[in-house]
Amino acid sequence: MKSMSREIGIDLGTSYTRISVRGRGLVLSEPTVVAINKITGEILAVGNQAKEMLGRTPDNIVAVRPLKDGIIADFEATRMLVQNLVYRVIPRSLFYKPRIVVTIPSAITDVEERAVEGVAYNTGAKAVYLMEEVMAAAIGAGLEIGKPEGCMIVDIGGGTSEMAVLSLGGIVAENSVKVAGDKLDKDIVEYIRSRYNVLIGETEAEDIKKQIGTASDAMTEERVSVKGRNLSTGLPETVTLTTYDINQAIKDSLEMILKAIKTTLENTPPELSSDIMTRGIVLCGGGSLLKNIDRYISEQTGIPVFIAESPKECVARGLSMALENIEVLKKAVKTKKG
Ligand SMILES: Nc1ncnc2c1ncn2[C@@H]1O[C@H](COP(=O)(O)OP(=O)(O)OP(=O)(O)O)[C@@H](O)[C@H]1O
Ligand SMILES: [Mg+2]
Repeated sequence: MKSMSREIGIDLGTSYTRISVRGRGLVLSEPTVVAINKITGEILAVGNQAKEMLGRTPDNIVAVRPLKDGIIADFEATRMLVQNLVYRVIPRSLFYKPRIVVTIPSAITDVEERAVEGVAYNTGAKAVYLMEEVMAAAIGAGLEIGKPEGCMIVDIGGGTSEMAVLSLGGIVAENSVKVAGDKLDKDIVEYIRSRYNVLIGETEAEDIKKQIGTASDAMTEERVSVKGRNLSTGLPETVTLTTYDINQAIKDSLEMILKAIKTTLENTPPELSSDIMTRGIVLCGGGSLLKNIDRYISEQTGIPVFIAESPKECVARGLSMALENIEVLKKAVKTKKG
């Protein structure tokens, strides 16, 4: 008998939530942002529409980013976001009780895990499975994780940078730091504040990072102007920044990501590290789009570094692939502790 269930994969990211449906692949990708009416509690917008409201809302509206560092920080808002997005891809119906796989960061507590499950069950799911984000990322990046050879994935997202060495379908060494794209944005805000006494928004900082940010000294010096508020006069002021400025602002954070990669390699058995020396490290996540980040990591580790195809979508793609192949999924889902 044909089952009436559907399988959905959710990459609940700090910056973006991406949904894959079995047989259809990645179907939706929206910013993890919710706009709520503070007085009525009513949800006004979700995703792109809500992101446009960040930092620009009147008193009675708040636009929140309900995840922080890869973890649910605002349960209610996350619940509403996930429900809204899931109903967009699978219209609510009595007969369609989906099975949902959600990816989770490796450094997650039991309580945080239960919050993720709660959010997924709230959509009316009949079963919820959790899968480690790095595992999905590795599959989605096209790494041959089933072989008896070591391979390494580094996922630099918005909230966390997660890295793992895999072999024979399992994780051999892994590490995670709460330093990723969002932290770089904060670094830029802080740099401009301390250097020019001007305050800019995090969204502007993110734009600057994407435009002229670089992980290693650039050959060409680019410039960009940004408007902010002078903290002494309270008046608007335009500051001109160079590639050098941005590199200075973010370099300590980049070093922390690098250190986490090195620690992971130190915790890897020598046979597998030598495989990685030859096969290289594969980067994914939106943070891997920072200019020269591959060169920076390669120079500092002496290992070749490659960027995965469509790096922001690796986790969602890995989820899609796992949904198509139930055997892959069975192996990859997190086995319950205790
Ligand atoms: N061209 C670019 N240059 C630098 N950073 C970029 C670029 N494009 C996107 N990013 C950054 O990538 C980050 C988002 O990446 P991604 O979508 O992988 O995160 P996420 O999966 O939502 O977060 P996480 O996995 O940490 O929970 C943001 O910080 C964004 O600023
Ligand atoms: Mg992610």
